[in-house]
Amino acid sequence: MNPVINDNTATYEVGGRTVCVQAQGKVIRIFEAGSVIDPLVKLNFSPEEFSLQDIISVDDALRVVIKNDRGVVYSDYTGDATVYDHEKDFSLAALEGHKVEAERVHFKTQINIALGANDKIYGLGDKAAGLDRRGYKYVQWNTDDPSQHNESYKSLYKSINYVLVSGDNGFYGIFYPDPHRVTFDLGAYKPDLMYIGSENGNYDYFILLGDSPQEITREFSRLVGMPFLPRLKMLGNQQSRWSYGTQDEVEKLVDDFTSRGIPLDYVHLDIDYMDGYRVYTVDENKFPNIKGLTKKLAARGVELVTILDPAVKYDENYSVYKAMADENAFATQNGEIYHNTVWPGDSVYPNYFDDKAAELVTDMTVEFMDRTGVTGIWCDMNEPASFNGPLPDDVMFGEYPHSRIHNLYGDYMVRAVARAFDKKNMRPYVITRACFATSSPFTTVWNGDNQSLWAHLRASLPQIATMNICGFPFDGVDVGGFGGECNKELLIRWTQANIFSPFFRNHSAVHTRDQEPFAFDEQTTKICKKFLRLRYELIPYLYDRAFEAHLYGDPIIRPMFYEYPTDEKCSRISDQIMIGDSLMLAPILDQGASARAVYFPKGEWRDWFNCIKKRGNALYAVDIPLDATGLYMRGDSIIPMYSRLTNLSKKPSALVVRLGGAPASYTSYEDDGVSVDGKYNIYKMKYADGVFSIKTVKRDYDTDYRMIRIVCGRKSVIVPFSYELKVKI
Ligand code: GLC
Repeated sequence: MNPVINDNTATYEVGGRTVCVQAQGKVIRIFEAGSVIDPLVKLNFSPEEFSLQDIISVDDALRVVIKNDRGVVYSDYTGDATVYDHEKDFSLAALEGHKVEAERVHFKTQINIALGANDKIYGLGDKAAGLDRRGYKYVQWNTDDPSQHNESYKSLYKSINYVLVSGDNGFYGIFYPDPHRVTFDLGAYKPDLMYIGSENGNYDYFILLGDSPQEITREFSRLVGMPFLPRLKMLGNQQSRWSYGTQDEVEKLVDDFTSRGIPLDYVHLDIDYMDGYRVYTVDENKFPNIKGLTKKLAARGVELVTILDPAVKYDENYSVYKAMADENAFATQNGEIYHNTVWPGDSVYPNYFDDKAAELVTDMTVEFMDRTGVTGIWCDMNEPASFNGPLPDDVMFGEYPHSRIHNLYGDYMVRAVARAFDKKNMRPYVITRACFATSSPFTTVWNGDNQSLWAHLRASLPQIATMNICGFPFDGVDVGGFGGECNKELLIRWTQANIFSPFFRNHSAVHTRDQEPFAFDEQTTKICKKFLRLRYELIPYLYDRAFEAHLYGDPIIRPMFYEYPTDEKCSRISDQIMIGDSLMLAPILDQGASARAVYFPKGEWRDWFNCIKKRGNALYAVDIPLDATGLYMRGDSIIPMYSRLTNLSKKPSALVVRLGGAPASYTSYEDDGVSVDGKYNIYKMKYADGVFSIKTVKRDYDTDYRMIRIVCGRKSVIVPFSYELKVKI
């Protein structure tokens, strides 16, 4: 059917129904005439003059088909996609203790997409599943449930309604921007059908095209907003526990790290630092001089991050409650302030969707940071969670019912908190548990309450890699596991497996044993220290990745298929990851194992530790004893490094560059690691014909580098750093 094209919109009309198509580059919006994307969802989409009629067709049954130069890449489902209502009486099963949920399949909108036999489906954020999520059904409804997450767990903390599909004719992305409860069935109900069902949303979604996963990921990031640029220090090691309870305990903790030479940049204070769990307060019995503490720690290169929950204690004598109640800044039900129970007991919920309420939160955060010297804010329980399950649908956040804003609550909380950093002229250090697809410009994320289980260690790799291809490069999980009892071997293997996780934090729950790197024995301390030091050596490489994540939306941690999209073997590998395009990590993920199979994609690889070469396109059995991990450098890569550091408060003056083989090229970025002035340098590094060179292609920052050491195999040359450099190796 030929569309009517009116400037930026193509319109297809059959039997009274009208489907419209718009595009911004290769981001295509398909929607029913009249649909408006919820204005609460902040997207960057300005459609261009429509010219895609050759690749998009809509047939008489209003089925959308999209072609690329290899054939059909995307097609609506042509079979019967009726989803039957499974609501039954499950009370008997519930009596036996089964956790039963009646299926809610009353969709207002159902988008049906055809799946080819070989299609793989990646995405949907933090689900505790393998990389390819085909065959499962997930419900996007931000949920706090600390029981044991696994691959069939339908809802976790985040709603990132985005999948990247790999098919015979290439890749495409799908993004559904509706904030209501949304079901993604990825071939669970019918193996050849992927459907998106929304209880309240419109027929209105995006298809993203591109020649590679990288192109599509970049487009997705442009649409939802580019990730923030972290402070250099945020790439450092972070230590947490629910809760380090007193000022002395925190000082002792930092001593325990520094006396052993274990790198550390941040300590997190969980809920017990507060006075009766009242947000923006500090318990002065436990922390008599928090400003003094932050000053003292800063002098040792360590800063503090404090937790911030949405729930405000209902207490008429509490200044935060009073100030917010005066501004009508809380959610309501039947016209009265809505109450529920969270950490402080009787609690009320800020309405971040109201500009005034959000501004109060911003200002209180600024005041709190000024008062305490804390430099990072950890936003938790913002699904929003309560001790009585999800909030009722009719709780109102201003004019918006809970059912509409639930999945956006974390997003709006982090926007309000991130503005505090803007006001202080600082790069944001916000970390959140709940979020929406549009939160990445403001916040770091972690994947919530995992457990000290080998299964959760295994899940961490695909979880972090998936978050990365979903536009959230700054992700990590609780290293060692949050709930349950960690043990020596698990902590060692977990530290090794997550050692390049952009956000690296060992965190554990109040009722579990201590799990700091030194909480077990000498051997554990030694091995964890060795790997944390390795991470610090590779900080310049990680920071370059963070820069490219910020500039282009590139993932830092990448699934194998992302780098090798035409290698079928890479399409399902969940237990190996790429860090950028040059390093491959294949850790041990099983109890008692000291060897594993490692797949090396095409090209030549070198073992990071002993430089032994491995030819690619092959599977090897590799010994990996307890004090080792599988880490490999692509043969033709250049890796910038620091030498020996225990914190990142002060940038080193020497850069080390490790060369794999020639010819190789690499782009490195440098700035002061903290400012928001946007000033940075770009260095183009090359290694060819026995010569290593640097050409500075953007220079608006006075470099901190004084010396550069170039290492190639056993050869090493030290020269003064220069913006234009040529060194024979
Ligand atoms: C939640 C968080 C966890 C935190 C705990 C206490 O369970 O996910 O990280 O330690 O609350 O604040």
